[in-house]
Amino acid sequence: MLSLGIEGTAHTVGVGIVDEMCRVLANVSATVRPETGGIHPREAANHHAERVVPLIEEAAAKAGVRLNEVDLVAFSRGPGLGPCLRTVATAARALALTLDKPIVGVNHCVAHLEIGRGRCKCDDPVLLYASGGNTQVIAYAAGRYRVFGETLDIGIGNMLDKFGREVGMPFPAGPSIEKHAKDGKELLPLPYSVKGMDVAFSGLLTAALTLHRQGVRLEDLCFSIQETAFAMLTEVTERAMAHVDKGDVLLGGGVVRNQRLRKMVERMAADRGARMFVPEGELCVDNGAMIAWTGLLQHKSGPRVAVEETLIDQRFRTDEVEVTWR
Ligand code: ATP
Ligand code: FE2
Repeated sequence: MLSLGIEGTAHTVGVGIVDEMCRVLANVSATVRPETGGIHPREAANHHAERVVPLIEEAAAKAGVRLNEVDLVAFSRGPGLGPCLRTVATAARALALTLDKPIVGVNHCVAHLEIGRGRCKCDDPVLLYASGGNTQVIAYAAGRYRVFGETLDIGIGNMLDKFGREVGMPFPAGPSIEKHAKDGKELLPLPYSVKGMDVAFSGLLTAALTLHRQGVRLEDLCFSIQETAFAMLTEVTERAMAHVDKGDVLLGGGVVRNQRLRKMVERMAADRGARMFVPEGELCVDNGAMIAWTGLLQHKSGPRVAVEETLIDQRFRTDEVEVTWR
């Protein structure tokens, strides 16, 4: 069985094709990179509309399959930016109707985690999902992915991207901050905000921007942002692991491409006698393969969805998904 997935919740439109063994046969994407300011939802939607058909064709060519050999069309139903979601859902419906194949709408956050479970073959981990818009610590219990802790204000990736934008880094800023942090020497004091299993980043962002205006070395600032923010994530992940008594930890979302974050979580896990898992880098950021894979799991375990039931959901929460495949 082959599943084709289309992602398009925010800045990236992606198309992936996977099989039932979670082998990724193709995974191609295009990202909007605004020259100034943040992502404009309608501009991003126009970008996705222009790119989605060529990407579908490119994915099929890369996978070496004809489109009518695909058994299922999956798409990202939410959460995300309304215009982007509608564009991608329209493309998915058109493709499914043309090919006369079933269609399934997928929760973007759950997809970030399921691709890691599928690729890393870890069964029941605590999940640290750290991306642009989301920061959550999650564990599975009784048919749902329960959110044990999350950001109370902005996602960690948005914090990094906003900081980067103010100091003149290209979007997304995470990789540039990681590079600068390697030459950091001094740990500057920044607000460390953890409440139980929740975190908050806006105080840290404000303080970091103030220090930047005061002229501190950018390398030291990037280093300090990483050390502080990632320590917060590591602390709440450890608390969740102790609370739910699960051995493994799985990372998902674009920010977990960061080597320093991985090191900190890996060290914490090792100290607990636990293991850390991370999927390949291209599967950490927004991508079509994760949507294809989660759609396949959902389709095999649940009822067939009518095209009329494929409405998007801008505020689709992780714990709203009925996990029928576990
Ligand atoms: P969400 O999943 O919440 O909808 P998203 O779709 O914007 O968010 P992803 O594509 O999963 O997010 O991740 C993008 C984020 O990952 C950006 O904020 C980017 O700065 C960050 N990022 C990418 N690489 C790195 C890195 N090496 N270090 C830190 N952050 C990184
Ligand atoms: Fe994402």
